[in-house]
Amino acid sequence: MKQIASFVILLFVHNLNGCFANRLNNSECENNHCIDIRYLTPTKESVDIHINCSLHFTKDLFCDNIWSTVTILRLVGNWGNGNGVDLESNTFEGFGHLEELRFVGVRFVTLYPGSFRGLDNLRVLDLSNCVNLGYNNFLSAFESNSTLPSLQELNLHMTGNRGDNFEIRERFAKLLYSRPVRVVDLSDMIIKGYDLGPVSCYARYLEFLNISGISVLNLANSSNIMVCRIPSLKILDKSRSFADKNTFIYFWCVNEKTSITTDFLHLDKNYVNVNLDAIYLDNMCGNTRTRNLVASSPLEMRCPFGSTVHLKNVYFRRNYVSVLDIEVYSKCPVIIELLDLSENGLQYINPKALWNITSLTQFLLTDNSLGEMVSFHPEQFQKLFAQFKRLETLDLSRNKFTTLPDGTFTNNRQLKRLYLSGNVFEQVPFTLSELTNLEYLDFSDNLLLELDVSGLSKLDSMSIDTHMDLTGRTVQCSKCKDYGRVKWLLEHKASIIANSSLTCVNSKEDVDLISKTVEENLHYICYRNIYIRNNIIFSVVAIVCLSTIVIVVIFRIRRQRNVYRQIRRRQQTLRRLENGELQFAAFILYSSKDEDFMRTCVYAKLEEHLHLKVDSERELVGFGDRHFKIGHCIMNEVI
Ligand SMILES: *[C@@H]1O[C@H](CO)[C@@H](O)[C@H](O)[C@H]1NC(C)=O
Ligand SMILES: *[C@@H]1O[C@H](CO)[C@@H](O)[C@H](O)[C@H]1NC(C)=O
Ligand SMILES: *[C@@H]1O[C@H](CO)[C@@H](O)[C@H](O)[C@H]1NC(C)=O
Ligand SMILES: *[C@@H]1O[C@H](CO)[C@@H](O)[C@H](O)[C@H]1NC(C)=O
Ligand SMILES: *[C@@H]1O[C@H](CO)[C@@H](O)[C@H](O)[C@H]1NC(C)=O
Ligand SMILES: *[C@@H]1O[C@H](CO)[C@@H](O)[C@H](O)[C@H]1NC(C)=O
Ligand SMILES: *[C@@H]1O[C@H](CO)[C@@H](O)[C@H](O)[C@H]1NC(C)=O
Repeated sequence: MKQIASFVILLFVHNLNGCFANRLNNSECENNHCIDIRYLTPTKESVDIHINCSLHFTKDLFCDNIWSTVTILRLVGNWGNGNGVDLESNTFEGFGHLEELRFVGVRFVTLYPGSFRGLDNLRVLDLSNCVNLGYNNFLSAFESNSTLPSLQELNLHMTGNRGDNFEIRERFAKLLYSRPVRVVDLSDMIIKGYDLGPVSCYARYLEFLNISGISVLNLANSSNIMVCRIPSLKILDKSRSFADKNTFIYFWCVNEKTSITTDFLHLDKNYVNVNLDAIYLDNMCGNTRTRNLVASSPLEMRCPFGSTVHLKNVYFRRNYVSVLDIEVYSKCPVIIELLDLSENGLQYINPKALWNITSLTQFLLTDNSLGEMVSFHPEQFQKLFAQFKRLETLDLSRNKFTTLPDGTFTNNRQLKRLYLSGNVFEQVPFTLSELTNLEYLDFSDNLLLELDVSGLSKLDSMSIDTHMDLTGRTVQCSKCKDYGRVKWLLEHKASIIANSSLTCVNSKEDVDLISKTVEENLHYICYRNIYIRNNIIFSVVAIVCLSTIVIVVIFRIRRQRNVYRQIRRRQQTLRRLENGELQFAAFILYSSKDEDFMRTCVYAKLEEHLHLKVDSERELVGFGDRHFKIGHCIMNEVI
């Protein structure tokens, strides 16, 4: 009861009136467990119905008129064997605006003539993983050429794999003729057989075909002969083509070392459309066994229809080719713009394998081992990119490079983006000044990269507009030798990606944001001895100067004081002389032999001079016996 109550409330919330709920209640669905109403998406345009049992859908079930506004309907199962849906004729009569009908995780789907009736606006029919939906049952729903007249996308990934397998022959192809079907996904289907003749002629709107991982039960009754070309086809996914257990095992999937036969590259035999935007040839053997492709003599590539091979993007990933030692001579121009050879574990590529693809602008070689080639065949590696004069993007991430030979990119003047992340470079490996157009250089996650003086000068030599990614490297900032690097990083901050999180490990093993302070600290560490010596010299000089100044000042003060004292004493003496306190300013004692000389030359002159200083008429010089008072103590007579 509780469940039913919440069920009704939710229906109310979602503005579904009672009709749908009642009908659902009356259907074979036991106790309303079948549809999980919680998942009925509340937006009117897109509805998910989660199904938990086998449910018979009829037009009476969707009796409310709200369904006419729904554009996307997903019937979502639980991937188990216990659930499935029957779509009675006219079930979707009320879904006049439905554009997408998708089955997700519903293995059992049964269709009837008229199941799709009324879906005049349906663009997308996704029956992927409906493994128990048989081919004839599927076809029965297409009553006439006017069933699903707007269908553009048909997704049949694994459809019908458990029973009545599909056949991709004339009948199927005709479905693609009267409808504007642009996208067909047949990936991982197990089909009875195929005939590319009618498919090529009827699929006139086909743009995208996914046949990756497709298996063919009756290969002997299948035909590869394309009667028509499909000029509309733009994208073809042929990945895992040779993984098919029903076909003969394709030769290069078997052997570890395979010699390629000379007709390997006859494209007309391999029915590849030669004018595509993208072709996917990933993991062609469907396993992870490594293999070498070797040819003892050069291979000639003949071209179908005698034209140019124009494949804009070619993906050849996860094929585990570790050695590609073939020489290819193309008879016609091969135009490939993007070539993706990632995740192959490539250790060697013969430079002549790809030398006719001079049009290449993007070359992706991530997750290989080309570091091996640099170690053992450096001169071959040096030539590897020489033909690609238009190359703009080169991705060499995660290739175990420790270095690159000089001159590797001499011919790649157009190179704009160079990815070298995740390698083990110990040095900035080459002179970057060659790459005048470089805009982005990715050196991230190169833990061993030593940005020393020579490395930094190489980085300095590159174009000013280049942005660098140096993240993931542990920069040290504990020793003097780190100073140059930290200074350089600060100076080039503007061209470093993720510059706001440039960090380094300091002497306390802490992670520090690289900043002016760090630079100053390192500068101090570098010049510490000079700092100390300078400090000592400065201190000694300062002390000496200070002492000298103090001594001079003291000396001068003392001299000044003596001078003042003398002046004071003289003034005192003068005053005493003037007021008669002292009778004489001087006494002259002499030998009587010198009397004449003393009298005329000394006494007279002294008198004269003293009178200039002392304002007094009396005699100021005590001369000889005249002024000695007999009987007086001699000490009292001395001034
Ligand atoms: C569904 O059926 C049960 C009895 O089987 C009934 O009690 C319940 O009211 C019905 N719910 C609705 C929404 O009609
Ligand atoms: C769906 O089925 C599972 C297992 O069969 C069950 O546990 C679950 O409660 C069911 N959900 C609903 C909404 O009935
Ligand atoms: C449906 O279209 C196919 C292919 O154009 C045609 O061969 C066939 O006669 C058409 N069927 C009807 C009933 O018009
Ligand atoms: C083709 O289908 C496979 C399997 O569904 C899918 O993984 C792959 O991405 C598809 N290819 C493209 C180009 O979408
Ligand atoms: C080949 O396939 C066609 C179409 O399904 C069928 O009529 C024919 O009998 C098959 N032949 C063999 C040898 O299986
Ligand atoms: C392929 O490259 C070789 C060697 O450079 C050259 O002789 C040959 O003409 C090229 N083929 C085409 C079609 O350009
Ligand atoms: C950090 O780098 C961006 C570009 O990646 C640049 O615009 C910005 O000015 C740089 N910041 C500093 C502080 O240099």
